[in-house]
Amino acid sequence: MPSYLVTGASRGLGFEFLRQLSAVPGAVVIGLARDKAATEKKVSAEIGRPNVHVVHGELTDYESLKKAAEDTAKITGGSLDYLIANGGIVSRYSAFKTLYDLADDPKALEEDLLTSYKINTIGQIHLFNLFLPLIKKGEAKKIVALSSGHADYDLIRDFGIVIAGPYTLSKTALNFAIAKYHGEFKNEGILFMSISPGVVETSGHNDPEGLSERELENLGKVGQQFANYAPHFKGAITPEESVRLMLDIINRATVENGYGGTFVSQFGNKQWL
Ligand SMILES: NC(=O)c1ccc[n+]([C@@H]2O[C@H](COP(=O)([O-])OP(=O)(O)OC[C@H]3O[C@@H](n4cnc5c(N)ncnc54)[C@H](OP(=O)(O)O)[C@@H]3O)[C@@H](O)[C@H]2O)c1
Repeated sequence: MPSYLVTGASRGLGFEFLRQLSAVPGAVVIGLARDKAATEKKVSAEIGRPNVHVVHGELTDYESLKKAAEDTAKITGGSLDYLIANGGIVSRYSAFKTLYDLADDPKALEEDLLTSYKINTIGQIHLFNLFLPLIKKGEAKKIVALSSGHADYDLIRDFGIVIAGPYTLSKTALNFAIAKYHGEFKNEGILFMSISPGVVETSGHNDPEGLSERELENLGKVGQQFANYAPHFKGAITPEESVRLMLDIINRATVENGYGGTFVSQFGNKQWL
């Protein structure tokens, strides 16, 4: 009876994780969401399986995550097999701007950096610390964080991907946190890894609506850079495909077969598109 906790369960990839994982025979699937009632309603309308539960949690609020871990323990009986740390933000303010584009308003830049770190890095570290006692009692012992190809140093350097600095930095820090946890917990057989979902059609990404001329120019350049990096790339994939690919890797990955502490794509390697 594998148990899963998926954050960011209200929509996008998180909701798709709930849908696919709840089809696993005997699975207990728990979604963490800021709006518990709305997510429960969506789950019952669009998934309709009794093995999906929803707990409340806000990644910037330590106490709410602590309560979410307690609520999870009540559902599972005190253990957890998989923590899928999917919830996060790509700041709309900086998603299509370079760090130098953001120089005009240093206060707003600082705010944007801090918000990105609070949710994508610090919130995740609290989440890992609070759920580790449950994971230690689980069978699978896997903690997987959703990162982004934006946080791949070589991709940025070699192909000149210069937008979304605050998002990139916060996900890079998350990847390094994963490496630190791996170093500490590998001998207990606990897998920590980061995975990028690819470019996926969700509400959080790639909507050019309302962008300035400069942002559209930056977006156009990224399109060209992606084409240079991966000539086969045809555009964003569906949440269904992305989650299916990631689950294949997550199911196979273990500390012993070398995935511990790694940062890989939806293909399980460093091919980001
Ligand atoms: N889609 C892509 O192309 C892509 C590419 C690379 C990486 N990723 C990563 O994949 C993950 C999922 O992305 P997505 O595209 O599915 O994003 P999304 O559609 O924007 O959904 C984000 C989820 O995170 C939750 N969330 C945001 N801030 C939160 C907070 N402070 N506390 C608790 N929950 C919070 C949202 O909840 P609310 O509904 O309450 O806002 C929502 O459920 C993210 O970590 C993202 O960075 C996505």
